[in-house]
Amino acid sequence: MACVMKIEITDSYEALSKAAAKKAANYINNNPGTLVCFAAGDTPLGTFKELLLMQKEGNVDLSTVWYVGLDEWVGLGIDDKGSCIKVMHDSLYNYIPKERVRMFNGLADDIQKECSEIYEWIIKHGGIGLSLLGIGRNGHIGFNEPGTPDVEGCFTVELDEVTKSVSKKYFGKERAVTTGITIGWRTLLDSQEVILLACGINKAQIVKKAIEEDCTPDVPASMLQKHSTLTVILDKGAASLLDQ
Ligand code: PGA
Repeated sequence: MACVMKIEITDSYEALSKAAAKKAANYINNNPGTLVCFAAGDTPLGTFKELLLMQKEGNVDLSTVWYVGLDEWVGLGIDDKGSCIKVMHDSLYNYIPKERVRMFNGLADDIQKECSEIYEWIIKHGGIGLSLLGIGRNGHIGFNEPGTPDVEGCFTVELDEVTKSVSKKYFGKERAVTTGITIGWRTLLDSQEVILLACGINKAQIVKKAIEEDCTPDVPASMLQKHSTLTVILDKGAASLLDQ
């Protein structure tokens, strides 16, 4: 199916967060009972803040949908600063009924079983309705690192050097992370709606590659061009190298 990509360029991080929250809330209001996949990472934090504000003001009920985690660092759990599960609980899921949320447990003894169970959760809810994603400096989405193959479901991935070096910003210290667990880009592409967020000039080059150059698994975010309705929300910095 041909991609009808919508690109929204906002003036600031606050404006980006408001635009993303409005779009996510609109999806949730129109699609109760569906499954939502929110990325952790720094970029969506403002969006979560806006969503909680919208909920307080009665403009969205976040407890009408289900949630699935996008990815996790293998070896990290909810008590670890910078783990996806901790970031997501601190910023959003502590305000949503517990039974609505299923995230990867990076401390599970059997990581393959964890992958299967998350995929079963996705299937049980009819696939992913909305995916709200960020983009890594190497073009990753979730932990779909450059070169991640076209495989359905969830799997472990060896982390890219760029991801390992960026990881310090989440942990506040060096941590020897080597492996990630993620929903694969093929399954993300099956989402009913996809929103991709990027903020800051240090994302400008990879954003250009992802949305203006050819689709290639070497830039996993570029595979989203294959989605039939992709919305890309950027701030001016992240959009600064685009031709259009
Ligand atoms: P960031 O991470 O939002 O912290 O920049 C994005 C990502 O790596 O997916």
